[in-house]
Amino acid sequence: MSTPTVIVTGASGGMGSAAVRQLVERGANVLAVDRDEKGLERVAEECEKGDGELGTAVADVGTTRDVEAFVAGAVERWGGLDGIFNIAGIGTGEFKPLADVSNETYDEVMRVNARSVWLGMKYALPHLVARGGGAIVNTGSHLAWHAAPTFSAYCASKHAVIGMTKAVALEYGPYNIRANVVCPSAMDTAMGQEAAEGIAPEDPQLGWKILIDQSANGRVGHAEESAAVGVWLLLDAPQHISGIIVPVDGAQSAK
Ligand SMILES: NC(=O)c1ccc[n+]([C@@H]2O[C@H](COP(=O)([O-])OP(=O)(O)OC[C@H]3O[C@@H](n4cnc5c(N)ncnc54)[C@H](O)[C@@H]3O)[C@@H](O)[C@H]2O)c1
Repeated sequence: MSTPTVIVTGASGGMGSAAVRQLVERGANVLAVDRDEKGLERVAEECEKGDGELGTAVADVGTTRDVEAFVAGAVERWGGLDGIFNIAGIGTGEFKPLADVSNETYDEVMRVNARSVWLGMKYALPHLVARGGGAIVNTGSHLAWHAAPTFSAYCASKHAVIGMTKAVALEYGPYNIRANVVCPSAMDTAMGQEAAEGIAPEDPQLGWKILIDQSANGRVGHAEESAAVGVWLLLDAPQHISGIIVPVDGAQSAK
């Protein structure tokens, strides 16, 4: 591959901004997408000295029009597309058993976590096919293939990500397109903090301890670690690696 062109969503967040920094350092052309404009400005400042070229797009990843527009924008700017790293996501904000979670919360979590991945792949795929191949990396979670009480809507959205990624890996393998899922467990990000507060509202430190105790190495993940796995899957992984999930979880899923 000459200079790769990739899209990263959730680029203002913990894992997304780490992925953008790593990709720009590697010399890639990166379109960084997020709904948080200030966050994108911060990421752009951090990447000023990188080798790659950075563009930004403020967008809602769950909205068809927005996704079509940012994919088209990347293709127009750099003449094609080699990959997309779908990272944007939200927690439920409602840590309750299923019957007590609002339907609105379910719909919004599915929209932002699952529909966004559907749309990102749908509009990127024709350009990857036109390029003769490419890579898709989607972000699942430990809860994309396991479950936890009070996380039903989030689990639903992330399990969907694995299902659609595997289908795409099968459908587009003949076009030299790989599709894989990186599955972090708890990370040291804003979303990690939200989970800690949701698990133990009276004592978020206890929430963090519960999250930490799930790993064999006595800590939560660093956003840079999950980002690095995604960057590897995008740029470096052997062509035969497709349709897999890669946990980044301190052996949590070995239990
Ligand atoms: N942090 C964790 O503990 C953890 C664990 C497992 C999986 N994950 C997954 O990893 C990914 C990254 O999480 P993070 O910890 O970096 O979270 P984060 O909250 O730091 O970042 C998420 C980013 O997504 C953006 N975003 C949310 N909704 C959007 C929308 N509709 N349109 C555009 N952008 C939107 C936010 O603005 C934010 O910048 C998510 O998919 C998350 O579900 C996180």
